[in-house]
Amino acid sequence: MNFRGLIMMVLLSCAAANAEDLRLPDPLMMQDGRRVETTEQWRMERRPELIDLFRTHVYGRAPIGRPKDFAVDLSVTEKGNAILESVALTFSGPGGKGKVRLYVLRPKNAEKPVPAFLLINHRGMDTFDPSQMTNSSFWPAERLVERGYAAAILVAQDVDPDADDGFKNGVHGLFDDPAKPRAGDAWATIAAWAWGASRAMDYLEKNPAIDATKVAVVGHSRGGKTALWAGAQDERFALVISNNSGCTGAALSRRPVGETVKKINDGFPHWFCTNYRAFNDREDALPIDQHELIALIAPRLVYVASASEDTWADPEGEFLSCVYAGPAYELLGKPGVGATVQPAPETPLHSGAIAYHLRTGKHELAAYDWEQYMDFADLHWKK
Ligand code: GCU
Repeated sequence: MNFRGLIMMVLLSCAAANAEDLRLPDPLMMQDGRRVETTEQWRMERRPELIDLFRTHVYGRAPIGRPKDFAVDLSVTEKGNAILESVALTFSGPGGKGKVRLYVLRPKNAEKPVPAFLLINHRGMDTFDPSQMTNSSFWPAERLVERGYAAAILVAQDVDPDADDGFKNGVHGLFDDPAKPRAGDAWATIAAWAWGASRAMDYLEKNPAIDATKVAVVGHSRGGKTALWAGAQDERFALVISNNSGCTGAALSRRPVGETVKKINDGFPHWFCTNYRAFNDREDALPIDQHELIALIAPRLVYVASASEDTWADPEGEFLSCVYAGPAYELLGKPGVGATVQPAPETPLHSGAIAYHLRTGKHELAAYDWEQYMDFADLHWKK
């Protein structure tokens, strides 16, 4: 073994000791104790098992996929060098009709279908302009177009309002049976938004201007938790980007740093299924941890980003999830994050299929973050 190999081995064994200290579940160990040795076993057994565990205990179960009457109402306008598609995704359920807005700004004279970034926007319509003529770091649509990408933004509040409303509004009101008591694993708001992201993908994948094999789903904070859950379930997303997603996003739940399971369940009782409350102050009893959510994205690309002042989101815990998701990526033939120690600020790790950066500053989706996401996408999609 050469010197580099030796150093890597020592670093990995330090990280492994850390994983043991945290008593993290092993992504490559089935619930019944069998080790996952082959890609086939991962695909056919462990991946479905993990998805089911996250559905049962954390995010809840969406009762429906694409509704039978799912339809699209489109209007197209020109915006300088770009085309703006204003889309209404429509559908209905036993509780009535739903309509979700999606805006796609794309380069006007592209020679071939372009890759796209889909932002799950949990903020109100007033915080952004779909073509982003005002300069917003949260949604730099014009900049994305300038770099050759389509910029798609989903109005998550149309899927489900971000309020503890007893699951009366949004898609819960449409698809849940009011005559039945709510199950402990019934979907809540994060799962509803993830469902919405998949419906947006239904539109993007049929759009001849978009390269559907290169669609990134992006979210910040609560939207970042959603992006990870959407990407874990829906394998059409080729890249999943979680910006400052923190507790029940990229951060490990077993690390008692920043927001905890109890704090998030108390503060936001409508985000996760009610079964999740059984783990308040009992993170050790969870059959999963958040590195396994990242493992569910393997072998596809995933990007986790933290901010140095965002201690509530536990930046180091976000990074360690990337490290401990590594074995699943390696089993599937892809390199993980390529480091076991959190990098210094402004030193992005882009060498593996798991990318990570720490930005100096506060909890936000900043111009710096977007530039890194596009650099990473360029690396893989514009070879
Ligand atoms: C709160 C919450 C976080 C969440 C954040 C956000 O701070 O505790 O879990 O990520 O809001 O969505 O901005």
